[in-house]
Amino acid sequence: EKVILAYSGGLDTSVILKWLANKGYEVIAYVADVGQNEDYKAIEKKAFATGASKVYIEDLRKELVTDYVFPALKANAVYENLYMLGTSLARPIIAKRHMEIAKKENTNIVAHGATGKGNDQVRFEFGYRMHMPDVRIISPWKDPEWLGTFVGRSDMIAYAEKHGIPIKASLKKPYSEDENLIHISHEAGILEDASLRCPEDVFSLTLSPKEAPDSETVLAINFKDGIPVKVTNETDGTVVTDPLEMVLYLNKVGHDNAIGRVDMVENRYIGIKSRGVYETPGCTILWHAHRLLEGLTMDKEVMHLRDTLSPKYAELIYNGLWHAPEFDVLTAAFDKSQEYVTGTSRVALYKGNMISAGVTSPFSLYNEELGSMEVKGGYEPVDCKGFININSIRLVASAQREAKQKPE
Ligand code: ARG
Ligand code: SIN
Repeated sequence: EKVILAYSGGLDTSVILKWLANKGYEVIAYVADVGQNEDYKAIEKKAFATGASKVYIEDLRKELVTDYVFPALKANAVYENLYMLGTSLARPIIAKRHMEIAKKENTNIVAHGATGKGNDQVRFEFGYRMHMPDVRIISPWKDPEWLGTFVGRSDMIAYAEKHGIPIKASLKKPYSEDENLIHISHEAGILEDASLRCPEDVFSLTLSPKEAPDSETVLAINFKDGIPVKVTNETDGTVVTDPLEMVLYLNKVGHDNAIGRVDMVENRYIGIKSRGVYETPGCTILWHAHRLLEGLTMDKEVMHLRDTLSPKYAELIYNGLWHAPEFDVLTAAFDKSQEYVTGTSRVALYKGNMISAGVTSPFSLYNEELGSMEVKGGYEPVDCKGFININSIRLVASAQREAKQKPE
C-alpha cells in the first residue's frame, strides 16, 4: 500500500519514513516549500536514501501569501493579542496539497510527524478530512506501536543510526522550530522555563534592537481593498509589487530594523499552555500599516464590529478551522469590510518600532475641518446639548437610584 508522508528531512520524519517502509508501505515523501530556509535538493536526496519511492517538492509560497496571509491581514487576525499565526496559516495549505498528491497517487493513506500534544496534528488532520473525507491517517505520535518503540529522542537516534539515516543536522538546536515565509517559531527545550528570558542566539529572522541601525527606514505601502499592492522604501528607493516578493522584502527590512519579536505563553487548542518565541518581521509591518490605513478609511461601526470578530477569526485559524463553515462566513464579512481600505500608509521603522508617517486615501472618511479644533466646519455645537441630554438619561437614572439606596 502507498502512503504519502509529509516529510521535512529532520530526524522525526526521517525515522517515520524508514519505520513505514520497514512496515511494508511504499512511501512517497511530500516536502512543502512554504519559504523555510532549506536545501531542498539535500532533503530530496535524503528522502530517497531513507527509502522513499518518490519525492514531491512543492513550492506553495505564492499561494500561501495570496490565499492565506492576505485574508488574515484583512481581518487583522492575531491570536491572543500577540501571536501572528505564522505556523497556523501555513498548515492548511500544506494539508490541502497533501490531499491533492494523495488523489493523484490514487491512495487515501497519509502520514505526518506532528506530536500528540500540539496544535499541528489537529490542523493537519482537520485539513485532511475537509479535503478528503475518507482519508486514512497514520499519526505515529498517536500510534501505540510507535509509542512503544520510541519513548524518547534517544530511541529515534538509535534507530536512525541503525538504519544509516544521517542525524547530525537535525540535532544542532536544543529547541523546536518551525520556519516559513511568515515567521519562525521557537518552542520547547531550553525555552520551556517561562521565567527565563529567551537567549539572544535563539533569534534568526530579526536583529536585536541593540544591533539595528541608528537611522530610520521609511516605507510607503499601497493597499487596494485591504491588500498590499506596492511597497516603496523611501529611504533607498526600492519598489516591490509582486505579492510574494513584497512579503520577502518586508521580511528583510523588518529583520534589519528588529521588527516582530514576540515572546509569550499561549493556550494551545487542546488546553495546554505553551511558551513560544516568534519572529514575524514582514507581516508585523504589514498588519500595522494596514491598521493605520483603516483608521482613515473604515466606518466607525464597521470597525468596531470587525474588531469583535478578529479574535474569533484568529482562534479559528489557530485551531485549524480554515474553511470550516463558520470561517467562510466570517471571511465574507471581512472581505466586505475592506472595500474602501485603499490608499497609502507610510511607516518609519526604527529599532523595533513602527511609527506612522502619514496615511492618504481617495476614500478617506477623515474630514479635516470637522475634526479640527480651529474651525467650525459645518457642525453645530449646540446640537450636542441634545445628544448629551438624551444619552445621559439612563446614567442619571442609575446615579439617582444609587443615591437613594445609600444616603450619605
Ligand atoms: N505554537 C505555534 C502554533 O501553534 C507554533 C507551532 C510550531 N510548530 C512546530 N511544529 N514546531 O501555531
Ligand atoms: C507539535 O507538537 O508537533 C508542534 C507544536 C504544536 O503543534 O503545537
